[in-house]
Amino acid sequence: MKITIISSSMRRESQTNKIGKTIKVLLDRKAISENIPLESVHVDLVSYGLPFFDDTIEDTPELQSLWKPLSEHLATSDGFVFITPEWNGTASPMLKNFFMYVDTELAHKPALLVSTTANATNGAYPIAELRSGSYKNTHIIYIPHHVIVRNVNTVCNSDIPNQESKEDVSIHGKITHSLDELITYATYLSQMRAEKPFDLEKFPYGM
Ligand SMILES: Cc1cc2nc3c(=O)[nH]c(=O)nc-3n(C[C@H](O)[C@H](O)[C@H](O)COP(=O)(O)O)c2cc1C
Repeated sequence: MKITIISSSMRRESQTNKIGKTIKVLLDRKAISENIPLESVHVDLVSYGLPFFDDTIEDTPELQSLWKPLSEHLATSDGFVFITPEWNGTASPMLKNFFMYVDTELAHKPALLVSTTANATNGAYPIAELRSGSYKNTHIIYIPHHVIVRNVNTVCNSDIPNQESKEDVSIHGKITHSLDELITYATYLSQMRAEKPFDLEKFPYGM
């Protein structure tokens, strides 16, 4: 099983990317401790430099060669973690731009949404926005749990939770539990897709 983690801050040195690294460590640790065939890959979307989508990809070989490796990577994944910062009250525009490029690579696959904020109370808007706005054409399945990493600068600064920080222990617990849920969905949904492939051509853009 392959889980791809995509962090989507537009900053090259970001707290969102830090959370992506933590999630990869937790997944790798789970694979070893439970002896399960689980591969995880972490992509910091900013490193791809995908231009603003303008519907010219079919006629632009340079754009195709930029998108193709990422597309193939998504197509061979069984589940996803999308991590977005809250910037100006919204989800990452770069992540929303990424969804414009997606065709069927994410279809009927589970995903965990994670948002980050430096604030003590924010972080809900990007989750609500992505849950409502990014599933229709991608056919992605967001799992019931999501994680909001508040006060992000002060948590997940080490691979092992800081036992003296209730917030750090709590967020590690929430992430771990949500990843368990994601892996269960990924296991059974991949079986489901193999046994009964969906017709992705009938309503490719949803209803
Ligand atoms: C341009 C910009 C706008 C931001 N707007 C918000 C916001 O509306 N609400 C919020 O809670 N945090 C906001 N933040 C703080 C980020 O949520 C915070 O820095 C978080 O760590 C994610 O940023 P990073 O992954 O880019 O480091 C903003 C940060 C930047 C750079």
